[in-house]
Amino acid sequence: MTSPVQIASASGKLGVLLVGLGAVSTTTIAGVMAIRRGLARPIGSLTQMGTIRLGKRTEGRTPKINEFVPLASLDDIVFGGWDIFEEDCYAAARTAGVLEPAQLEQVRHELEAIKPMPAVFDQRYVKRLDGPNVKKGKNKRDLAEQVIADIRAFKDKHGCDRLVMIWCGSTEVYMKETAAHATIASFEKALEQSDDAIPSSMVYAYAALREGLPFANAAPNLTADIPAMLQLAAKMKSPIAGNDMKTGQTLIKTIIAPGLKARLLGVKGWYSTNILGNRDGEVLDDPESFKTKEESKKSALDYIFQPHLYPELYEDLCHVVRINYYPPRGDNKEGWDNIDLIGWLGYPMQLKINFLCRDSILAAPIVLDSVLFLDLAKRAGMSGIQEWLSFYFKSPMHAPEVYPEHDLFIQLMKLKNTLRYLQGEDLITHLGREYYD
Ligand SMILES: NC(=O)c1ccc[n+]([C@@H]2O[C@H](COP(=O)([O-])OP(=O)(O)OC[C@H]3O[C@@H](n4cnc5c(N)ncnc54)[C@H](O)[C@@H]3O)[C@@H](O)[C@H]2O)c1
Repeated sequence: MTSPVQIASASGKLGVLLVGLGAVSTTTIAGVMAIRRGLARPIGSLTQMGTIRLGKRTEGRTPKINEFVPLASLDDIVFGGWDIFEEDCYAAARTAGVLEPAQLEQVRHELEAIKPMPAVFDQRYVKRLDGPNVKKGKNKRDLAEQVIADIRAFKDKHGCDRLVMIWCGSTEVYMKETAAHATIASFEKALEQSDDAIPSSMVYAYAALREGLPFANAAPNLTADIPAMLQLAAKMKSPIAGNDMKTGQTLIKTIIAPGLKARLLGVKGWYSTNILGNRDGEVLDDPESFKTKEESKKSALDYIFQPHLYPELYEDLCHVVRINYYPPRGDNKEGWDNIDLIGWLGYPMQLKINFLCRDSILAAPIVLDSVLFLDLAKRAGMSGIQEWLSFYFKSPMHAPEVYPEHDLFIQLMKLKNTLRYLQGEDLITHLGREYYD
């Protein structure tokens, strides 16, 4: 046992500001409203249903995570957000079509009360989208100041003690780091000049970090993953996490791949294809937005298989990822994976996976958990990249000198050990000699 980290109290209201009130956001918001009224269960959420083993297996100490660390209560959450469409959260949830109308009806009044604030939006970064609820400003700096004013006004109006911001907006076009992203000063200059290197998502992230808010990126955009944002996060003591929530096919990939690797089965090919019919699918139908998603989806296997250490097994892996926009399916995505394996003496085998999932149903608990854990991190004085939240993301943010950890089981161990560390409990190594010595 070590001494626990000092963590400020979780009492008081927690404002959760979502950028983009689309399928994922509205499913999260309506879900939390239904759950806190006892109308539904928080399935898939580690903060609400997970337990954590403490000490030796013989001690029998396995509290629930939300009884072990001080997390904000669902009752204390107040939601708000921005969108380019004017419809309130109830109408947006109906448009998204994820939750049943009867379920939405039960929380209709609460949902209707959430009206989107005008967005920072520029169609150059999301080609397949346009809407009327958009801010005007003389430059991107001015737009960032308007978002800061929104944050402060929301905090005052709802009497929030703390706030967290999460980007749940559409996937922006593929962008690479440039000189404008190098330092806080170069970024602020680029804001003044409305530099093309600053997409809308960066304007929000900058505003959040300037205000010292924790920030998460649920999409694959570059957003907060640039040196200027990391410097700002360090300066303002903001924890950050991202990128791109690990939900359907990539979740399964990072469950299956570590198993194949553990048994040293070779993989020659992994072909992944999806059909998806929601607005996200429509945006991803644009090749430039798809490129951002593709980069995010493809990296996981390379890191898990470590082809540089196991060239005979994984060096020539052919990894293909496709997303096809197919409106009839709406939010109910269907993913197919074909995996070409090699076993003992080089004999080939195949594994086929057909996952009929619901995108936003898998995403909502991730939004909730990352918001609650980032709020915990802030109260525990942890700032910058929160690698222990890699568990939730397809391309986890990481320090430049280390590779990202993609194996879901290592990620979970990292997350739980961080919670043990915060509370001064022994870290669990799974050595277990003490039961036999
Ligand atoms: N399982 C999942 O659903 C999943 C998994 C991983 C990542 N994501 C990512 O999360 C994001 C949200 O997914 P979704 O299914 O809710 O998409 P969606 O299209 O239903 O919602 C996105 C919303 O963001 C709004 N928006 C776009 N740009 C904006 C801006 N600059 N400011 C304010 N609002 C803006 C859009 O109007 C839309 O309402 C997407 O980038 C998606 O790729 C989703």
